[in-house]
Amino acid sequence: MIIAIDGPAGSGKSTIAKMLAKRLGFKYLDTGAMYRAFTWKAMQLSVNLEDEDALCHLLDQTIIEFQCKDESLHICIDGINVTREIRLPSVTNNIHYISNKSGIRQRMVRFQQELAAKGNVVAEGRDMGTVVFPQAEKKFFLDADIEERAKRRYVEFKPSNGKVSYDDVIKDIEIRDKRDTTRIDSPLTKGIDSVYINTTRLTIEEVFTMILKEIESIVRK
Ligand code: DC
Repeated sequence: MIIAIDGPAGSGKSTIAKMLAKRLGFKYLDTGAMYRAFTWKAMQLSVNLEDEDALCHLLDQTIIEFQCKDESLHICIDGINVTREIRLPSVTNNIHYISNKSGIRQRMVRFQQELAAKGNVVAEGRDMGTVVFPQAEKKFFLDADIEERAKRRYVEFKPSNGKVSYDDVIKDIEIRDKRDTTRIDSPLTKGIDSVYINTTRLTIEEVFTMILKEIESIVRK
């Protein structure tokens, strides 16, 4: 079974996807982490981020793996654990060079499908229900007002980066939303067959309960 969860930054999809995978005993597939890890590698090697051929060639020689350690998911690229590095602002700011290239997306999609072929999966990203797993048994699109999403990110970043302001976070999310939704290949969009949940005024537990009910309804059928 595949559960697909899409949505913009700060919509709560990572938290929910992790909780869901744990509860159901499914594998958790964080596709954003894959784009992040490859962005990190391309930056380390100073590859021209505009050069699609060079990037595709590099991706063909890259091994991306997930490992479960101490109850949390780690991502390794060519054997290097980059779980922390992929969250650096420099990586976040450069991902769009990677995620807007069709050659890269095609390879990532294939790889994600291969990873999911091995069992039950909760897959999280921007194009899970629309492109990667159109056959998913259940699809969700999580959303929230931009102010609420920025507030969540601000609270998350504040302890590690005291200099970041709420205004910076909201501007950053606006830019990411624009890039994610206007990309020519696989833009972030709610597919007609996905369940839309606006999480602005909901707690994580409330969202989790709603999603679980939806999943149980298909299991019962
Ligand atoms: O979910 P995240 O913030 O870790 O994702 C980082 C970026 O990766 C996001 O801004 C867009 C891109 N991405 C994508 O294009 N397709 C996916 N399936 C997942 C992420």
